[in-house]
Amino acid sequence: MPGTELFGIEEKKEIADVLETGILFRYNHESLRNDIWKAKEFENEVKKITGARYALAVCNGSAAIMAALATSGIGPGDEVIVPPFTCVATIEAVLMLGAIPVFAEIDDTLCLSASGIEKALTPKTKAVCLVHMCGGMADMDSIMPVIKKHNLILVEDAGQAFGASYKGTSTGLFGKAGSYSFDFFKIATAGEGGVFVTNDEKTYLLADNFCDHGHDHIGTNRGMENHPIIGFNFRISELHAAVGLAQTRKVPYIRQKNRENKKKLIELLSVNKNIGFARLADPNGDSATFLNILMPEPLYAQQTVENLNKNGVTGFNYWYTNMYHFINQWDHIKEMRTASKLPIQVLGSVQDYSKLDLPESQIVIGRLISFGIRCTWTDEQIEQLAKNILKCAEAVKANV
Ligand SMILES: Cc1ncc(COP(=O)(O)O)c(C=O)c1O
Repeated sequence: MPGTELFGIEEKKEIADVLETGILFRYNHESLRNDIWKAKEFENEVKKITGARYALAVCNGSAAIMAALATSGIGPGDEVIVPPFTCVATIEAVLMLGAIPVFAEIDDTLCLSASGIEKALTPKTKAVCLVHMCGGMADMDSIMPVIKKHNLILVEDAGQAFGASYKGTSTGLFGKAGSYSFDFFKIATAGEGGVFVTNDEKTYLLADNFCDHGHDHIGTNRGMENHPIIGFNFRISELHAAVGLAQTRKVPYIRQKNRENKKKLIELLSVNKNIGFARLADPNGDSATFLNILMPEPLYAQQTVENLNKNGVTGFNYWYTNMYHFINQWDHIKEMRTASKLPIQVLGSVQDYSKLDLPESQIVIGRLISFGIRCTWTDEQIEQLAKNILKCAEAVKANV
């Protein structure tokens, strides 16, 4: 959780600015707010880091991805290709809009692969919701030709990849719209927060309306604003934006430290030839929030995880059994358990989610153990962690 590692006077100062005026609302109240606009500043900081032409801060990353899908024109009955490895929020966003998730294979980048997308295409495929997982990035040079060839809409969920890029372009900016999460676990946190990004003015204006009940935000009297479209309340508060702003300013430093610490850990672990790593499609663009270890096979990874647990080693995720990041545990989706009927339950789905055949994804995630990188680690802590991992991996080798 690198962002939270560095909480300090900067966050307190930004929050205090807001509390001094008492204007916790991001819009209007010009005469009372002493020119304090934290949400706008947060958006500008995100634009600075990502190079996005437009950014809209919202209440969380789930809302941001839903806004990205909605403003890209995704709606009832549209098939959207999604990965089986993501925060379940991605799938929920597709479902809530009435669209139909179509699961496709990921590869050793931990993201959808070009061949996986191609195999999942049907005449009704409208979009791909690409998710850049675990601080890294998808292989865009192989994916973009597929998007173009089949005239698909690309929406990117970069919820876990703020600060990551591919060959100089930030994750989230390859398609029509993208999203980042600033929840408590991310490289920068707002407590709860998300940011929608796009390079397209029309898409941004739609998002600006969509995320605030359709308000056009023209003029200074909220009560007299027009509503070009129907929207909902996905607004961020000034208090959350204040934290997000202070945290986002720290991202270049955090990313640099993460990269240094990850490099040291990789060097130390590389003495064991059985320990491999997930492929970074652009190693220079890594946000380095995770070290994604790929063991030779799932059984090897499972036994290593058992040893890590037995030895009290913490700070890692074994996503294969994680309740909300991998499809194996998503029984509520497989059984389509909902509060009230969703369009998919009327329209039908092209896949039976309880019988998905995604062998490549099963193997990759079965082999994957992800360690969160901390930007405040000392060299001694990194050495100790490497020793612990090596010990647990080597104990497996002895048994297999
Ligand atoms: C890839 C991805 N998308 C979306 C989300 C949802 O973000 P939030 O928790 O801010 O709603 C997350 C959160 O973990 C995520 O990892």
